[in-house]
Amino acid sequence: MIELMPISRQFRLLKDDILAEISDTIEQGQYILGPKVKKLESRFSEQTGAKHAVAVANGTDALVLTLDACGIGPGDEVITTPYSFFATAEAVSRLGATPVFVDIDRSWNLDPERIEAAITARTKAILPVHLFGQPAALDDIQSIADRRGLLVVEDACQAFGASYRGKSIGSIGHAGCFSFFPSKNLGTLGDGGIVVTSDPELAGRLRRLRQHGSAERYYHDAIGYNSRLDELHAAILLVLLNKVEAWMKKRRAIAKTYDERLRPLKPVLEVPATEEGRLHAYNLYCITSPKRDSIREALSKNNVQSGVYYPRPLHLQQAYTSLGYAVGDFPVAERLSREALALPMGPLLTDQEQELVIAVLQDFAEKGGAK
Ligand SMILES: Cc1ncc(COP(=O)(O)O)c(C=O)c1O
Repeated sequence: MIELMPISRQFRLLKDDILAEISDTIEQGQYILGPKVKKLESRFSEQTGAKHAVAVANGTDALVLTLDACGIGPGDEVITTPYSFFATAEAVSRLGATPVFVDIDRSWNLDPERIEAAITARTKAILPVHLFGQPAALDDIQSIADRRGLLVVEDACQAFGASYRGKSIGSIGHAGCFSFFPSKNLGTLGDGGIVVTSDPELAGRLRRLRQHGSAERYYHDAIGYNSRLDELHAAILLVLLNKVEAWMKKRRAIAKTYDERLRPLKPVLEVPATEEGRLHAYNLYCITSPKRDSIREALSKNNVQSGVYYPRPLHLQQAYTSLGYAVGDFPVAERLSREALALPMGPLLTDQEQELVIAVLQDFAEKGGAK
């Protein structure tokens, strides 16, 4: 079976180093917010160019705590994409605010041309997602936000390693939120997340919020959360950080091969569009095809896993019926929900495996994609 994301290979490869770090953590004796979390935070701010990094329990909390620290709550609106993992909008709703969806562009991210029309007196922030690792149109989004006095919070959960006009994503908006879920470009053996920002006050609020709203033990100046990155996960992530640059190169090389070999298969399927000045991090490599489900079947018959991200856009989720959206409201997102298909991707996917995936797709297209 060719896995969609061969992640266990990554951990097996680094097992000895990871076990040594875990052993070191046991000996060091600090298991919550110890030196390894601090080191990871400083490596992260170096890596992204943001002045501060605050590690939290997962990517969803990174979003919730950031929006909370930005003062977003009941009655407020946050503009975001209907084509993302549920957590993006859920974070907004969790604070009692309302996600306001805007359709996506050809990069499959928030379409800046549609944002202005969705701004109301209640809008407080724009929450772009860098979906599958491709940066959203941050310049345009930031300039709308500046003009209209809104904050930009980047959902960079899928996009570690991506950059926009030479700047690391996450560091361009007011804050950027990352996830360390195992399948992410930088993932741990469990849950984890981090927020980066260059605003010292926001960083301070985040540090307090993750610790029950407390800066000094047993003194609480806000209602907070218990949302800290475990020292053990920081230890594991420090091992992975040493590898991640080489692995990002490998992801891009695999994407380039898919691009070159699959582009001629149009119109049976299309490769993802990439935009000038945006360095894609390829957490997922998704093709589109009106015959998506038959392609998926052909791959599966040949023991190749594929993935549907996402079968139902956020505005049509049952949890959001109360928002009153209907089928047809966001045609681009709805089409992608029917047509996008993720192919096997990961730094340790072998050339042979990729060749087999390509061969199945070529064979499908040669037969006219008739089925
Ligand atoms: C776009 C996006 N936002 C938020 C999240 C939430 O991250 P986590 O699973 O670490 O809570 C994820 C990931 O899983 C994601 O893909």
